[in-house]
Amino acid sequence: TGRVVAQLVDGVSRTFNEFLLLPNRTSRECTPGSVDLRTPLVRHAVGEPSEIELRTPFTSAIMQAVSSPELAIALAREGGLGFLHHNRPVEDQVSEVRAVKNFKAGFVISDTNVRPTDTLGHLRELMQETGHSTAAVTEDGTASGKFLGLVTSRDFHPQRHDPAALVSSRMLPLEKIAYSRADVGLSEANTRLWEERLDCLPTVDESGFLRHLVFRSDYTDNKRFPLQLVDAGKRLRVGAGVNTHDYRDRVPALVEAGADALCFDSSDGFSDWQAEALTWAKKHYPDVAIGGGNVVDGQAFTFLADAGADFVKVGVGGGSICITRDQKGIGRGQASAVLDVAAARDAYRDQTGQYVPICSDGGLVHDYHVALALAMGADFVMMGRYFARFDQAPGAKLPTRDGFVKEYWGEGSSRARNWQRYGQGSRGLLFEEGVDGFVPYAGDLHEGLATTIAKLKATMVSCGAIDLGAFQATARLTLVSDQSFQESHATVQVRETSGLG
Ligand code: XMP
Repeated sequence: TGRVVAQLVDGVSRTFNEFLLLPNRTSRECTPGSVDLRTPLVRHAVGEPSEIELRTPFTSAIMQAVSSPELAIALAREGGLGFLHHNRPVEDQVSEVRAVKNFKAGFVISDTNVRPTDTLGHLRELMQETGHSTAAVTEDGTASGKFLGLVTSRDFHPQRHDPAALVSSRMLPLEKIAYSRADVGLSEANTRLWEERLDCLPTVDESGFLRHLVFRSDYTDNKRFPLQLVDAGKRLRVGAGVNTHDYRDRVPALVEAGADALCFDSSDGFSDWQAEALTWAKKHYPDVAIGGGNVVDGQAFTFLADAGADFVKVGVGGGSICITRDQKGIGRGQASAVLDVAAARDAYRDQTGQYVPICSDGGLVHDYHVALALAMGADFVMMGRYFARFDQAPGAKLPTRDGFVKEYWGEGSSRARNWQRYGQGSRGLLFEEGVDGFVPYAGDLHEGLATTIAKLKATMVSCGAIDLGAFQATARLTLVSDQSFQESHATVQVRETSGLG
């Protein structure tokens, strides 16, 4: 006779809040400055390097409210990878992939542009809006119009010059400024900036149309990003989400546009649809790096790895905007899911000689949760709420009584109108799997991520781990009781916060 009751999987479904790390012995050499956060992104043979290695273990969620090109650029400059979302027409996603791939560090598209016939009053307003003191003068007043000259802070002073006068009266025309051909490299551009004592070097194409501006101040800016994640052609790397509905069109278009890694993204990745789609992608595009998910147990991991997934995303219902567990009763505590899948990944490695990295996706609330996810075996993490808080995320920034918030909504919310993914047909959502809300605004990604990285390195140093491999191999976890959870927090009345993250 067959089974008549459901099978109960061993163990309780646990979350990150239930764990802490025990400190290990720290050697003299193990300092924050020497900690290395490199980690493999894609499948590789044991003993060989991964074709793509992240330089910091962060990826951004495949979500409308998270991964804009601006965010993907900012994250790649920090050594991580942004995944542009796919719940929209193929052409829209492709043009965003191109925008990231075409980004040239140090080369900016001018945002303060005027016509020679505009008034200085108009220029003043524009400069106030953008906060920039160099304006490009083009025939049609756009960033890519026929280039006619520049107005800099040396040429124009808002209080000194008549607002009714024309831009042409103060601009430096082409014959008086240094500019360059469009294919100039950054180091050549920088040499000219210094040798010719310039503040700004415009680049112009063969027909005389403006392409970029290179600023002297951005040279030092580039030095801020020593970990930039770039491809062989020195272009920033970018990821893109795909789905099991239109992958036959979307995968080729994204590959053609230069996406570095693709990822199937579903609240239920343990499906024949996804296995078929992965197999198809690997057959037609053997060189594509493509991940699968999401799953929460070892069996599902092995299923997707066998189907060809280059990495597997872990997590169902733990995300900050997720209500999948409330709505469908499906999911698993994120810590238990990561621990189980990591064990399956290691078993798969031992059996096949192939290492298939795993990503802990969703539910990371505190910075130390990142450290826990990595210690538990995740090769990298994916975050939505975390990145949605920054300037570079696409959600609107709104004022509140206590500061600012940014909009953040789930891909399964009716706002995302994501009926394809949830397979409820063209009548639209019958029920939602995500909510629409707000997250506290957190400023610039560079500053925010620096704090998170500093904490992660400090945790690793306490655990005596100089890199993520050592961290996973030596981490010792302890379960936290309700009482000891209370003990973890300050038990005095806090006078004021330091403002530090
Ligand atoms: P965090 O906690 O970082 O989670 O904000 C981001 C992850 O949540 C998943 N996601 C959803 N899950 N309903 C869900 O059940 C949704 O509407 C939804 N939108 C995103 C996704 O895995 C993402 O990376």
